[in-house]
Amino acid sequence: MTCWIGLAPAICYNPGMERLVSAKGGTEDISLDTTLRPRRLSEFIGQDKVKETVSIAMDAARGRGEPLDHLLLYGPPGLGKTTLGHIVAAEMGVDIRVTSGPAIERPGDLAAIITTLQRGDVLFIDEIHRLGKPAQERLYSAMEEFVLDLTLGKGPGAREIRLPLPPFTLVGATTRFALLSAPLRDRFGAVYRLDFYDLAAMDDIVRRSAAVLKVEAESNGLSEIARRSRGTPRVANRLLKRVRDFAQVRADGVITRDVAVVALLQLEVDASGLDEIDHRVLRAIIEKFNGGPVGLDTIAAAISEEPDTIMDIYEPYLLQLGFLERTPRGRAVTHLAYEHLGLSYKKGQQGSLL
Ligand SMILES: Nc1ncnc2c1ncn2[C@@H]1O[C@H](COP(=O)(O)OP(=O)(O)OP(=O)(O)O)[C@@H](O)[C@H]1O
Ligand SMILES: [Mg+2]
Repeated sequence: MTCWIGLAPAICYNPGMERLVSAKGGTEDISLDTTLRPRRLSEFIGQDKVKETVSIAMDAARGRGEPLDHLLLYGPPGLGKTTLGHIVAAEMGVDIRVTSGPAIERPGDLAAIITTLQRGDVLFIDEIHRLGKPAQERLYSAMEEFVLDLTLGKGPGAREIRLPLPPFTLVGATTRFALLSAPLRDRFGAVYRLDFYDLAAMDDIVRRSAAVLKVEAESNGLSEIARRSRGTPRVANRLLKRVRDFAQVRADGVITRDVAVVALLQLEVDASGLDEIDHRVLRAIIEKFNGGPVGLDTIAAAISEEPDTIMDIYEPYLLQLGFLERTPRGRAVTHLAYEHLGLSYKKGQQGSLL
């Protein structure tokens, strides 16, 4: 989006606009996420270590005739936490109840959902780090002893009751592992971190999604999308959909490499999958702070963003690419980022425009 400041055109960013390469799910992703979501473990691409360990744990639990241990999935948005939660329920042949930390305001909200569980069912709590303290405390005994402590009534007449629960499996998902309280973390039998997908896995994911959506495409057209999808399946699916639209309207409907390149250029997604905001973050550090190190709050103020948003949404992929590094004194831009932006880099000195 171009704004005019004085007579000079300047790039300006509209904070209300949904980012095309945001890994966070937006309104347009809801149906896409559901259509393209793998249903079984065999369809879930990549994350081999997590898949193998979950698979062994499920076999063992089935062998013992017991519900699966509680498991916690964490990692950046759009990598498959919700998908895995559903897959675990499907593979164990049980029902899943889905809720989220912010939806459970009071212990009563937790009771309302937890008391509907049958033996072995999965309770999926998204954004579990946002669960309020009173609800969290009720969850401890529910997870450990399968009992729910409830307070009936208020004031002096209030009394505590213990409700037995059928054994169930809690699957917690979070993008912010560090915000989880230690007692809650300790009650999970298994904790898995989902990482950004490598290029080979991203390639397979885009191919699978293209097949499900019956998109006509050449192999190197799909690889171009995979390369620019930030190691994130949700971004890949969204870009695939946009490039498909472009191919249909501007070309003959087939996603070739050329079509993908032009479409992604038009969508302002660069060769590494970075967009305007990533460029703003990197340029702010380079131009205003000599490439860093600079504190997160200072960067946030410089680009008018919330520090949490930078930490959760923009930074993980820039760190993954090696464009940004965390140092004890703050964030610093690396020579790889300078090269990517076409800026000259002199170690220990400010990068300058070529
Ligand atoms: N391993 C995978 N193989 C194929 N597709 C995947 C995989 N993981 C995720 N996806 C696709 O990406 C979409 C987003 O995944 P999902 O909703 O599970 O992410 P999430 O980690 O729960 O994100 P959030 O943190 O925003 O809740 C899914 O709907 C699915 O289509
Ligand atoms: Mg999710």
